[in-house]
Amino acid sequence: MEIRPMRRDDVATAESLSDDAFFELTQRTGGRAGAGPQRRTTEHSDEWARRTEHLVRTDPGGCWIAEDDGRVVGFATSFVRDTTWFLATYAVRPGLQGRGVGTALLAAAMHHGRGCLHAMLSASDDPRAVRRYKLAGFDLHPQMHLSGTVDRTAIPLIEKVRDGTAADIDLMNSLDRATRGAAHGPDHELMLSVWRLLVSDTTTGSGYVYVDARGRVALLAAGNRRTAARLLWAALADSSGPVVVPHLTAANQWALDVGVEARLELGQAGYLGLRGLQPPAPYIHHGALL
Ligand SMILES: CC(C)(COP(=O)(O)OP(=O)(O)OC[C@H]1O[C@@H](n2cnc3c(N)ncnc32)[C@H](O)[C@@H]1OP(=O)(O)O)[C@@H](O)C(=O)NCCC(=O)NCCS
Repeated sequence: MEIRPMRRDDVATAESLSDDAFFELTQRTGGRAGAGPQRRTTEHSDEWARRTEHLVRTDPGGCWIAEDDGRVVGFATSFVRDTTWFLATYAVRPGLQGRGVGTALLAAAMHHGRGCLHAMLSASDDPRAVRRYKLAGFDLHPQMHLSGTVDRTAIPLIEKVRDGTAADIDLMNSLDRATRGAAHGPDHELMLSVWRLLVSDTTTGSGYVYVDARGRVALLAAGNRRTAARLLWAALADSSGPVVVPHLTAANQWALDVGVEARLELGQAGYLGLRGLQPPAPYIHHGALL
């Protein structure tokens, strides 16, 4: 088996391997947010591929392929922003897991972050993944999620929230540094091109939230809990049909308060893995761009 740098022309194969691995995982564990085993939609696959091409471009030293006899058997994508190393995603072909491929891939990806003080990843419920991360020195913080249909009668009056643009990137990078210790930098351009951005910037506090095409809250950062709650309500008010607010740590009780008021259901899935960091707040991380 060879571990080699990932190339742009590996992205389609990695995407389909990743879909197979996470589908098989949801069959084993029952699925995230109570959704049960699900294949990716074409839209979701396209978004995955675009994000991975972006990471291969910005962090070629962080993205690795495991190949056996010319066949791709696994991959890991990671990136460095400021002084933090982030694991975006990581999978080994079902049927070949538990034989050391993942250990070799994670070592190659973590080498990319060897000069970093901090590290962050969002772990699945896979006991193999959890074991790997714990052995790699990560603290594991359980993640909760909110799901359901918003009780529209509960939505408060929402003021001081507007659509965001590329002109907000400096503000967003500052909020990222204040909450998670590292700016998203070039990732904001990618996120702006695929998701809706809402911004609140007032004398009492600033924040932003991205909402993806599936109506999921993709990422939220704010200077205080009140602004964070206002932005979450704005994202929920925008929804029609079922919503999901994933990746909530215990440090973000303000989001659970909003969820309870909106009559959403609370569940648990996976872990936020951190090294040299406390769980960011007020903050809702993205699973891959974190
Ligand atoms: C997570 C993943 C990439 C790891 O790759 P892998 O090739 O299986 O990893 P390894 O074989 O190197 O390591 C797995 C470890 O878990 C152990 N393991 C295997 N089955 C296990 C089980 N059912 N429960 C607990 N540990 C288990 C292995 O013995 C090994 O530990 P060891 O090296 O200390 O003996 C892979 O399992 C996978 O693709 N899972 C599904 C997708 C996923 O969850 N990705 C991670 C997203 S955060």
